[in-house]
Parts: sequence; C-alpha cells; structure tokens
Amino acid sequence: MNAESHGTKLKQTWWKIVLTIAAIAIAVLIYLVSPFLLGNGTVKYVDIEDHFKYGSIGGERANGIPYWIWKVLPVVFADKLPGEGYTSLGFIQEPDQDLPIGFSKDKKFINRVGQNCATCHAGLLRDTPESKPQIITAMPSNTVDLEGYIKFLADVAVDERFTGEEMMPYIEAMGANLNPLQKLVYHYLAIPQTRGALINIRSAFSFFDRQSAYGPGRVDTFSSYKTRQFGFIPDSLEEKELNGVADFPSIWQQKPREGMQLHWDGDNTSVDERNKSAALALVTPTTINFDAIHRVADWLWELKPPAYPYEIDRNLASAGKKIYENNCASCHSFTGSLTGKVTPIQEIGTDPGRLDSYTYEFVSNQNTLFAGITYQGNDERFQNFRKTNGYGNMPLDGVWLRAPYLHNGSVPTIKDLLEKPENRPKVFYRGYEVFDRDNVGFVSDVAEEKGKQYFKYDTSLPGNSNSGHLYGTDLASGDKAALIEYLKTQ
Ligand code: HEC
Ligand code: HEC
Repeated sequence: MNAESHGTKLKQTWWKIVLTIAAIAIAVLIYLVSPFLLGNGTVKYVDIEDHFKYGSIGGERANGIPYWIWKVLPVVFADKLPGEGYTSLGFIQEPDQDLPIGFSKDKKFINRVGQNCATCHAGLLRDTPESKPQIITAMPSNTVDLEGYIKFLADVAVDERFTGEEMMPYIEAMGANLNPLQKLVYHYLAIPQTRGALINIRSAFSFFDRQSAYGPGRVDTFSSYKTRQFGFIPDSLEEKELNGVADFPSIWQQKPREGMQLHWDGDNTSVDERNKSAALALVTPTTINFDAIHRVADWLWELKPPAYPYEIDRNLASAGKKIYENNCASCHSFTGSLTGKVTPIQEIGTDPGRLDSYTYEFVSNQNTLFAGITYQGNDERFQNFRKTNGYGNMPLDGVWLRAPYLHNGSVPTIKDLLEKPENRPKVFYRGYEVFDRDNVGFVSDVAEEKGKQYFKYDTSLPGNSNSGHLYGTDLASGDKAALIEYLKTQ
C-alpha cells in the first residue's frame, strides 16, 4: 500500500465516521423533536355521540392543560379530591375511554386536555340503587361538580408540590414514555407555565368565596365570563349579581326552539348564538372550532329526548293532559301562545339571582364578541343578546330528566314543584342519579351512598330560593297526580 492510497483510505474512513455521526445526530434530533412536530392529538370521531362526548371544540389551544399534567394531578394531589380521581367530582368515565365524558384532546406543540359541551350536557340515570348507571347525552350533567373541579385546579396551583421535581417521577411512573427533550419541556416549561395559568384561573374565580356553593349540575353562567372574557375585576362584581348560579339545562330539540327567548332569563332568540355563547365557557372567539360545534348543533337540531322508561298509567295521563292544557300549555307547549317569551320576575316570583347576574354592562360587552370573525361567509358577531325582566317560558320536552327544577335547580321533583313554596323541601341532596318514579325527579334524600357524599342543597342560601312558580299548586291532589302522569309523557 502506498502512502497516497493510504491517505485516500483514511479520508474515506474519516468521511464515513463524519457521515455516520451526522446520521445519528439527525436521527436523534428527529427522535427528540418529532413528537412536537408530527402527529395530531386531535381525534376525529365518526360517531356523533362520541364526537359530542370526546371531540374537541377548540378549547385546548386557549385553556388546555398538557396531557400528562392533567393525568397526574389526581395522583400527586389525591389529598385535594373528595375520592379517587376525577370521577370523584362526578365526571363520567366509560371503561374503554382514556378521558372522562366532556374532556377532549388536541395538540398545540404538546397534547392538551380541554373540555366540550358534554361537560355540562351529559348525565346519568340509575333505575334503582343496585342498577348500573346509564349515560344520557344532552340531558343536564346531573352528577358533575364543576365548581369542585375548578377549585381543585385552583388549589393545586398554589401547592408547593406543583413543580417539575415533584411531578416528573409520577408522570414517568404513569407510563408517559417521554423522550429526553419532552421531559425537559414538561419539566421546565409545561409544568411552570400550567401552574401560572392555573394561578390566573384561581384569581379569575376568586368570587367563589362570596357565593353559595354550586354542587353538582350547576354553574354560575356569567361571573367567570365577566372576569375571564372581559377582564372585570372579581372584587368589582356587586353582591347583587353574584347569586346567579344556574342549573344545567337539557339541549335536545333545538329546531323548534329557534326564535324563542331562551337561556333561563330568555336573553337570546338565536340557537346559533346560544351554542356559541355556551362554548365560550371553554374556548375563545379565536380558537373556537366552528366545524366541531356546528356538527354538534346539527345533531341537537332534531334530537329527541329519551322516552320515559318506566310504567305510565295511560288513563291517568290522558286525564292529566286536560289539566296541563288548562294550566301549563300556554307557557310550556311548543305551540303555546306565551312559550318562548319571558314571564316578568314580579309574576313568576322565583329567585331573582340569575336574572340580576345578567347585567346591562355585561350585555354591551357581549355584543362585541366575534366581531370581525366570519365562518362560511357569515359574520359571527353576537347580535341577539338582550337584558330581560324575568325568566323564559321554555318547552318541557324530556322534563322527567331535567330535575332538580327551576333555573337554580331548587326544587327536587315535579311533585314538589306542584306544592306551595312553603311546603317544598327546604334542604335536599343533589348529585344522586337514582330515579324517583313517584315524584318524578331524582331521589333527593340520600346524603351518602357507599362512602360517596352527596351535595346538601340549602334553599335558604342566597340564589337558592325555591319560591315562586305557583302554577298548579292549587290543584286538587287527584288532579296533580294526573298532571304528573301526563308530564312523564313529555
Ligand atoms: C360549563 C358548562 C357548560 C358547557 C361546557 C356548555 N354549556 Fe350549554 N349551558 C350551560 C348552562 C349553565 C346553560 C344555561 C345558561 C343560563 O341561561 O344561565 C346552558 C344553556 C345552553 C343552551 C340553551 C338552552 C335553553 O334552552 O335555554 C344551549 C342550546 C346550549 N347550552 C348548548 C351548548 C353547546 C352546544 C355547548 C358546547 C358548544 C354547550 N352548551 C356547552 C352550561 C354549559
Ligand atoms: C305564565 C307562564 C307559566 C305557566 C302558566 C306555567 N309555567 Fe312552568 N315555568 C314558567 C317559567 C318562566 C319557568 C322558569 C322559572 C325559573 O326557572 O325561575 C317555568 C319552569 C317550569 C319547570 C321547570 C323546568 C326545568 O327544566 O327546570 C317546570 C317543570 C314547569 N315550569 C312546569 C309547569 C307546570 C306543570 C305548569 C302548569 C301547572 C306550569 N309550569 C305553568 C312559566 C310558566
């Protein structure tokens, strides 16, 4: 071998090494970076009910919690939950699903967990204490304690364990299988950033301390909207507007509701705006996924409520139909002359808190939302919100699944609603999903079952009054029984 060919050989070997190192470096780089660039956390659901329960409506990009942080919180901060995992707050976990109903996944840099309509609009029904609960979409989320969830997030944010050092070992023990760069990103960026974001949530929701507890199935529609969308200072919210905690409504059959003054106080006549406004609890006007929401809206358009599954005395019900027509239909049947209009507060006499929480100042801010945003050529700006002077007369379809009743969920059963306010239960329990066939509603006297505590609703607290709506309370008891039987068929 001469010196020249030896030199060439050496050069070649040198190049091979360089190329190999470069190839390895590129491979490592791809391995480290690809999880951030490739793949899409968004799952597209073919089945519409799955889309409703688990599909993203765009909230993750604005308010999403990085997936592994969301997963590990109930493990690291188990002491801050009433029981095990998020289901202890009443969220519904299906066995074959990664996330509970109402939670969705999407990706912005890393996978994030957000929420969708089913958080507040999918509930449970049990025939007897021994039966398996059945999931019913578009009914009110009767078990979900949203305030409990937000308080949990607000509490963990100020806990000294909310650090990369504390949380990363738990994340790895859960099988996250993160590559070294992902670990760094989680440890030094995602965890501190999420903590900061949750501390902001904590301040935006500081009005909690000044309100009656919501318990499951209810939320204060407007206070967080005021503080988070419009930057109202929580302390500036007046006492009078802070008692507007509202029961989750059912959302089936929207088509015949178009043009009706709905939301509990009848503040909006447009189904489309009600849908979008509801979504704003979770998304911002710039991250909203219109396609995903329109898909839900199209499905809700003609979705029928489930029929009453237990025995109905048909003769009694047909006697009840006449009583209904004479006493209730004008305000509650789809064709009633007053249905979809507002009954003034002086006449309806129910708790004024929810009405007062919707202020003129808020409406004027609300009507600027979606300004300049178009979807399929339409201007999306809100135009139909109005301040009213009472509560809306809404259709009673599927009313058997909408208990507890009235806008603040203050009356546990239909039978109780037909009693004079002084004879309605002053204290009862919410969040228990076993059906009460005699009184029509959910069983409301169970404080605890198998170690799970139910929420004690006290009608003497601000916003919780069970007064008003005296219609039908003067009927003879036989007529009431007939009316209740008829309402089961609605
Ligand atoms: C954070 C809980 C929550 C989420 C999430 C939510 N809603 Fe609602 N929704 C409510 C509450 C509470 C009301 C009653 C508001 C009021 O009048 O105070 C309501 C009212 C409605 C209404 C009007 C019902 C009526 O007849 O008055 C519609 C329609 C609706 N929501 C659809 C949706 C859709 C579609 C989504 C998802 C894009 C959604 N909601 C997400 C809580 C929620
Ligand atoms: C003048 C109009 C009017 C009449 C008549 C009327 N209601 Fe109502 N009803 C309302 C209004 C308004 C509300 C909402 C009040 C609130 O939530 O504060 C309501 C609420 C209800 C609810 C609660 C719905 C829910 O989802 O929580 C039920 C049930 C109900 N009414 C049944 C009846 C029955 C039964 C009759 C006849 C005996 C009747 N109403 C007569 C106006 C009326």
